[in-house]
Amino acid sequence: MLISVDAKSSLCHGIVGPLLLGFCGRPAGIALNEKTGDLYVADAALGLHVVSPAGGLAVKIADSVDGKPIKNLDGLDVDPTTGVVYFTSLTSNSYPVNRDWPLEDVTGTLYKYDPSTKVVTIVMEGLFRSTGCAVSSNGSFVLVSQLAGHDIKRYWIKGPKAGSSEDFNILINSPESIRRIGSTEKFWVVSAMSYSYGVNQSAVVLDSNGRESRDLQGVSIWEENGDNLVSEVNESNGSLYIGTFTGNYVGIYKLCKP
Ligand SMILES: *[C@@H]1O[C@H](CO)[C@@H](O)[C@H](O)[C@H]1NC(C)=O
Ligand SMILES: *[C@@H]1O[C@H](CO)[C@@H](O)[C@H](O)[C@H]1NC(C)=O
Ligand SMILES: *[C@@H]1O[C@H](CO)[C@@H](O)[C@H](O)[C@H]1NC(C)=O
Ligand SMILES: *[C@@H]1O[C@H](CO)[C@@H](O)[C@H](O)[C@H]1NC(C)=O
Repeated sequence: MLISVDAKSSLCHGIVGPLLLGFCGRPAGIALNEKTGDLYVADAALGLHVVSPAGGLAVKIADSVDGKPIKNLDGLDVDPTTGVVYFTSLTSNSYPVNRDWPLEDVTGTLYKYDPSTKVVTIVMEGLFRSTGCAVSSNGSFVLVSQLAGHDIKRYWIKGPKAGSSEDFNILINSPESIRRIGSTEKFWVVSAMSYSYGVNQSAVVLDSNGRESRDLQGVSIWEENGDNLVSEVNESNGSLYIGTFTGNYVGIYKLCKP
């Protein structure tokens, strides 16, 4: 029997949803264009999408570049000055569900989508599990984290070094999501360290030179999360909003004034 499944199917909302990733999709990275209200979505399996301010179904923008499929999307951010959307692919290869990805696979990519030309282009290639990305508040650079490369790269969008990239932070362990803090020049980074019984996550603030500027000392955050792995944190109005991969809640953590 043939069953037809797409993202609207009720099958996608149950426990089998994750097994039907290629039909149901998985929104891995989201960010708003604050000026237009468009919500951009990096869907891990189905490509780049957008939801209009009125809501409703997401509309596909692209799932390939120059005929090559874009796969395993993860992080996404919108340049607050131009509306250009940056998003990452962990690897350009496909692997069966639940299979470990080979360490020699260094095919992560940073893409950009320009809404004014409606074209997706490759910004950086050969990345080692590119997870998160974040654009600086004046649009001068975009950061991309390499989960397996244990570092964060900076790609210059504007200024004398435009078009080139450099190390931003090479001391961080397994960096995952990166979020700019409002209109500041600082970023929250969730990172993880594997140890023999699991993963020990932490969140740090990096300044525009890639230096750690505030330690959350937030062991309690991770403890209260139990076994739920943190997917990202975002600071807004003195609170940290905490998303998880497996929990069905958003955590809110009131930050003390620095
Ligand atoms: C943008 O901000 C950076 C600091 O993050 C600064 O060095 C740079 O000069 C600024 N660029 C512009 C065009 O304002
Ligand atoms: C993160 O917080 C900022 C405010 O600091 C807000 O403008 C932005 O929309 C938030 N991002 C998401 C994905 O919620
Ligand atoms: C996890 O990290 C915290 C803070 O760095 C540390 O105190 C704790 O010992 C670590 N736990 C494990 C199991 O590595
Ligand atoms: C920001 O937080 C303060 C104190 O918690 C609250 O009074 C205020 O309404 C909040 N502002 C916004 C825009 O949410």
